[in-house]
Amino acid sequence: MTNLFPNYARKDFEIVEGVGSYLTDDQDRRYLDFTSGIGVVNLGYGNEAVEDALIRQAKRLMHTPNLYQNQLQETVAHVLGKENYSAYFCNSGAEAIEAAIKLARKTTNRSKIITFVQSFHGRTYGAMSATGQAAVHQGFAPLVPDFVYVDYNDRDGIDQQMDQNTAAVIVEVIQGEGGIILAEKEWLQEIEKRCRETGSLLIIDEIQTGMGRTGSLYAFQQMDIEPDIFTLAKGLGNGFPVGAMLGKQELGKHFGPGSHGTTFGGNKMAMAVAAEVVRQIDQSEFLEDVQKKGTYLLEALKKIDSSKIKEVRGRGLMIGIELQQEFSVEDIIKDLEKAGLLTLKAGQNVLRLLPPLTISMKEIDEGIEKIKKVF
Ligand SMILES: Cc1ncc(COP(=O)(O)O)c(C=O)c1O
Repeated sequence: MTNLFPNYARKDFEIVEGVGSYLTDDQDRRYLDFTSGIGVVNLGYGNEAVEDALIRQAKRLMHTPNLYQNQLQETVAHVLGKENYSAYFCNSGAEAIEAAIKLARKTTNRSKIITFVQSFHGRTYGAMSATGQAAVHQGFAPLVPDFVYVDYNDRDGIDQQMDQNTAAVIVEVIQGEGGIILAEKEWLQEIEKRCRETGSLLIIDEIQTGMGRTGSLYAFQQMDIEPDIFTLAKGLGNGFPVGAMLGKQELGKHFGPGSHGTTFGGNKMAMAVAAEVVRQIDQSEFLEDVQKKGTYLLEALKKIDSSKIKEVRGRGLMIGIELQQEFSVEDIIKDLEKAGLLTLKAGQNVLRLLPPLTISMKEIDEGIEKIKKVF
């Protein structure tokens, strides 16, 4: 008997403790974690400085409404957006996307928004409408109007759809939920160029790729593009719920008092945690280490000789192993779980690996051994 809605397909065990890259369940089984709580706990479990930041702030003051100045929000906004971007804080990824959609429509006074087949942007009405997956829309019509879905990495699709009525393009640098599908750099640059020509805004969804996941603070920094807006959540709070929309400072005039808001957005505890998270991640040594470990893991996985594997791909510590059609990723996930390794599904048949960015080489080797054995 459960008193919860069955909207999540839950496993039959509960995770009750975490230390570093390891989790323990309610039956005292220990797992190496290659999920980071779906790209959230980038700094590992029990990160002392993050926990201390939260506890210190919780004891001092948990919440003030956005009726007052908020120095913690100013601090986090500056470390995230430097001199170029202003920030709006919220509580989740979907909310960050909602804010981006509203800001884009209001700024351009246009309605059409281009997103991509297999994209994922969240479950609220706007974010769901932006999501290019029929399965996510199922049963929820009518969606928010004027979203069109173009094939990912398709130049012609962009050319055909982008016009003077296009408010924005929303794109992930790597489609995470969609199956670890990497955007081509030239294609993203082409989208940026077309946005400039048509006066549309370029919105990059960094909710899964951001906060160091791909080896730079934001994945778009490796693409030589400059979004008008980008969205963050997941790793920004290392487990504390927080989201953010960053937009070019000049967009501020379209987002005046009363235009948008949320009670908990930029909550004191969320901001205290986020400030510490960014402090740890936004350091060249840390990010180079993520690149090094990501390359090592990717290369090791590519060497696995298995008839089940179609392709191994990824960037930084965001890696997908696409299986041949006749094999089930669910079965592999179950076998890995029995072997003491937690992993994720993405797309139709992709095993998704998102280990904590703080994982050690020894732990990566342990994960590789388990994956090898199961394959
Ligand atoms: C790229 C991307 N955008 C948006 C979201 C939605 O975030 P949330 O679940 O916090 O609403 C997700 C969540 O998986 C995501 O991966």
